Amino acid sequence: REINILAISGSLRKQSTNTMLMHAMMALAPTTLKFQVYDQLNDLPHFNPDLDVDDSPVSVQYFRSQLKQADGVLICTPEYGNGIPGVLKNALDWIVSSGEWVNKPTVVIAASPSPFGGIQAHTSILLTLNMINALVLDDASHTIPHITMKINKQGTIIDPDTKKALQDSLFRLAEACPN
Ligand code: FNR
Repeated sequence: REINILAISGSLRKQSTNTMLMHAMMALAPTTLKFQVYDQLNDLPHFNPDLDVDDSPVSVQYFRSQLKQADGVLICTPEYGNGIPGVLKNALDWIVSSGEWVNKPTVVIAASPSPFGGIQAHTSILLTLNMINALVLDDASHTIPHITMKINKQGTIIDPDTKKALQDSLFRLAEACPN
C-alpha cells in the first residue's frame, strides 16, 4: 500500500537549504512513501479566528484537506530569531481548531548553518505540534547544524552520517504510518 506523506518546508527562500534537504529526503525514502509537497504557506492569511467562523478561506481549506489526506508529515524548517518562521507557525495555528494533524506521524528536521542547528526552532515547533496532538516521532526528528557543509548546491547530501540518519528517519516514518 502507498503511504502518503505531506512534505512542508518552513522556508520561502528560492535557494533554501531546508527545501533542498526536503527534496533530498524524498529521494532517499522507501518506495512505499509517496510525497505531496505543500508549498503554499505564503498563501495562508494570518491566523484569525474571525475568518474561520462559517466558510474558512480557500487557502486554509486546501491546506487542511492536504493534511487530512496525508498518512504522515515531513517538516524541514529553518530557525529565525530563535524560533520557527512565522509562516510555519501561522499554518500550525490554522490547525489547532480543526484537528487534521491529530495522531499523524510527523518527522521534524531543523537545519541551520549555525553550530546549534536550529535547536530553538525544533523545541518551539514541538510545543505547537504537541498542542495539536501530532504524533511527533522523536527518534526520527533531528536538528542539523552546519547544514551548508552537509548539502551541496545541487541539493545532494554530501555528509554520509547525515544521509544515513535521515534515511533512518524516513524508515521510521514509514513504519509509524498505519497501513
Ligand atoms: C537567520 N538564521 C538563523 N539561524 C539560526 O540557527 N538561528 C536563528 O535564530 C537565525 N535567525 C536568522 C534571522 C535572520 C533575519 C536571517 C536572515 C537568518 C540563519 C538561517 O538559519 C539561514 O539563513 C538558513 O539558510 C535559512 O534556512 P533556508 O532558507 O536555507 O532553508
